[in-house]
Amino acid sequence: MDDTADLCDALVGLGLIAAGEQPRFSFMTGGVSCDVAKVETADGRVLVIKKALSQLRVPTEWRASANRSAFEVQWLKLVRARVSADQVPEVIAEMPERHIFVMAYLPIETHPVWKSELLQGRVDPDFAVALGQALVQIHAATANDPALAQQFATDDLFMALRIDPFLLHVARHQADVAPALRALALDLQSRKTALVHGDVSPKNILIGPKGPVILDAECAVYGDPAFDLAFCLTHLLIKSVFIRDRGRLFIGSFRSMSQAYLAGVGWEDPQALSARTAKLVAALLLARLDGKSTAPYLTDEADKALIRQQAKAFLQDPALDLAQLINRWTFEGQA
Ligand SMILES: Nc1ncnc2c1ncn2[C@@H]1O[C@H](COP(=O)(O)OP(=O)(O)OP(=O)(O)O)[C@@H](O)[C@H]1O
Ligand SMILES: [Mg+2]
Repeated sequence: MDDTADLCDALVGLGLIAAGEQPRFSFMTGGVSCDVAKVETADGRVLVIKKALSQLRVPTEWRASANRSAFEVQWLKLVRARVSADQVPEVIAEMPERHIFVMAYLPIETHPVWKSELLQGRVDPDFAVALGQALVQIHAATANDPALAQQFATDDLFMALRIDPFLLHVARHQADVAPALRALALDLQSRKTALVHGDVSPKNILIGPKGPVILDAECAVYGDPAFDLAFCLTHLLIKSVFIRDRGRLFIGSFRSMSQAYLAGVGWEDPQALSARTAKLVAALLLARLDGKSTAPYLTDEADKALIRQQAKAFLQDPALDLAQLINRWTFEGQA
């Protein structure tokens, strides 16, 4: 069965289209780990169908259980119920045995992808504030919750999709930073603090009329919320080098997102979280250069050297926190 026949069959099974109906499919860009398609049905509904793949479409062999689809659905429903209906698309139907679910389509005209905006040089530090607030709200609403820790005990998935490819892969190849990266990996595995999304990247954030909408929660785990903040901040830092003429705006966005997030941390000492996040940012910078999921636009060797040198210095600094990191960050080549 080809991709659309398989998805049609699922849509019929879910009662969303009639047998024999041929809805219009538009596959979304990205799609490293899933088939994601916009579906326009004969009765005028516009939906998104997402099916998790077991082999990720990246050059290196990288497998992960397609069961992550079920956790993505649970994350979307939980955030909608416990935090806000504006921050996630609504789940319409699900078929867990086939790793498929259907959600509401959020039109691109009213919900542009944050990554596209950033790549076009439209960098708005106020949006970074809104995202910092949205993220910390999700973490605060799920912190210290043993039932959720049990529901999202997806440590094996998080190891396969995040800790191994991002931290341990680099540790295996770079002896000078291996001890620091292995210590961070162990620390991440040990913390069970709040519900982590696991992929807070600009490509997974839409700019909605009521603020950020967060997609793609396949890596959700009950773990260290610092990971989400670090993951997103790393993207901002890398873009400050890659889109250099907007460097100061990216740095401003880093500062405003960190401050907005830290102001909402009530479940632990914000300073401790800031220090952990800064170390993870350093590690994730290296992962974007040398890990299994590298940033495709980072091809300039001088840019890579600039980022690598700073990341390694950060990783070895015992007193680092987010404010110090960003005060020291250089994006212009004389680091
Ligand atoms: N409900 C939705 N409404 C509008 N657009 C959506 C919706 N869900 C997904 N998209 C679009 O499809 C893209 C891919 O979706 P998603 O991130 O969930 O899939 P993915 O295969 O896990 O992606 P990747 O592995 O590239 O991060 C998103 O970046 C977004 O542009
Ligand atoms: Mg995605």
